Amino acid sequence: MSQQQWTAVDDYFSEVLIGPDEVLANALAAADEAGLPQINVAPNQGKLLQLLAVTQGARRILEIGTLGGYSTIWLGRALPADGSLVTLEIDPAHAKVAEANLERAGLAGQARVRVGRAVDTLARLAEEGAEPFDFVFVDADKPSNPVYFEWALRLTRPGALIVVDNVVRGGKVADADSTDAAVLGVRRMHELIAAEPRVTATSVQTVGVKGYDGFTLIRVEN
Ligand code: SAH
Ligand code: DHB
Ligand code: MG
Repeated sequence: MSQQQWTAVDDYFSEVLIGPDEVLANALAAADEAGLPQINVAPNQGKLLQLLAVTQGARRILEIGTLGGYSTIWLGRALPADGSLVTLEIDPAHAKVAEANLERAGLAGQARVRVGRAVDTLARLAEEGAEPFDFVFVDADKPSNPVYFEWALRLTRPGALIVVDNVVRGGKVADADSTDAAVLGVRRMHELIAAEPRVTATSVQTVGVKGYDGFTLIRVEN
């Protein structure tokens, strides 16, 4: 089994089930042009996020980690006309690319990028008394995942879904002796999830165009 094969299969699924999409292609091109790293979700993963958010009936979506707004566009497309999305990004250059991409995607009226360290912008959302979110996508700095999980729990309604990206990292998550800050963050988050009676969760490992990784799905119970 090789990366080449994983890519071929992802390409096949994306071609047969998604097809060409000028808005998404332009968003990735603009991100490349600006020198952003290619660590956006794959097309079929973006569509999974959209399907989950639609199934969830999400009206209010929170994303932690915007980059160029690629996953944001997928999530934004899940929103009903009166829905809204907040996406948090530390890097003003990334936020600028994302804002232009969201504008071109016709989502500027519904999706707002908030620039700053997510721990600060999350605290601000709470201070502002933000209406609870129905769906959260956590995809920023991995060492902070335990903190983001706690915030996501605090800012969501019962029945909400929290999705956390990149929880496998080439299999390193299974190494209990790891000193990698990202692995420690992901493992600590899983300990918090396990100890938290208000949530039910599972994690799934994946292969594809973005390599060997995986995601965690967390449902906030009543
Ligand atoms: N969700 C995007 C990819 C996000 S990559 C997609 O799939 O298209 C991770 C992003 O998180 C980067 O843009 C990075 O600048 C941002 N980030 C890293 N640390 C952060 C922090 N402390 N607060 C907010 N954003 C952060
Ligand atoms: C990295 C971050 C991501 O969100 C991702 O999907 C892949 C890689 C990273 O920081 O390396
Ligand atoms: Mg990611």
